[in-house]
Amino acid sequence: MKVSSTDILAAKALIHLAALFTFFYLLLLLEQNALGADPVKEMIHFLGKTALNFLLITLSISPLARRCKQPLLIQLRRVLGLYCFFWASLHLLVFIWLELDWQLQLFMQEVVKRPYMTLGALTWIILLALSITSITAIRKKMKRAWLTLHRFVYWSVLLAVSHYYWSVKSELVEPGVYFLICLVLLAERKDYFKSLSGRWLQKN
Ligand code: HEM
Repeated sequence: MKVSSTDILAAKALIHLAALFTFFYLLLLLEQNALGADPVKEMIHFLGKTALNFLLITLSISPLARRCKQPLLIQLRRVLGLYCFFWASLHLLVFIWLELDWQLQLFMQEVVKRPYMTLGALTWIILLALSITSITAIRKKMKRAWLTLHRFVYWSVLLAVSHYYWSVKSELVEPGVYFLICLVLLAERKDYFKSLSGRWLQKN
């Protein structure tokens, strides 16, 4: 059975609902003081994990569309990717606002000093660039450069799981599982990595 445009519309509506539900669920936990002894840290974790989940789901769309021969599924990538950026920005906002109380100089020092923070910042910058250039008018103007830039999403997922892995001090099982999922999704893009390493070897 082929996925139709109506199915895509329904799927987009579900994605919006899921995001809205997640947002209100977090507000509810906060309002009911159910976020434990350190609610700010818990919020940072919740938002970071949600951003990463959306990133992994976004990256699973193309292999799914290809393997199931459902090209219309590709239309879901943009909305999922933008939600990933939304959650990542909230994650960053809560950190700067509630954890650092807008001490931007301290924030910059942390980003430079702590490697896991540097990786998070690089991930966020890539997601920002991808979100801005997802605007149709910009995409059209960029032509082939758009595709080159959007390949950076592969690096962003690698950076994001490394940021997660590096940020936890113990209990490495869950970040390890995220790492494995990331590698499986990147293995689906092996042709890109092969051509990239081929070009690099030619140059050096
Ligand atoms: C400038 C950008 C970023 C900063 C400053 C930042 C900061 C942080 C901090 C402070 C933590 C908690 C570490 C701890 O528990 O001690 C964290 C965890 C995390 N971050 Fe980020 N982050 C950034 C970007 C991102 C992005 C873009 C993503 C995903 C796309 C992400 C995903 C995560 C995840 C999954 C965790 C672990 C959550 C958990 O332990 O349950 N972060 N980040």
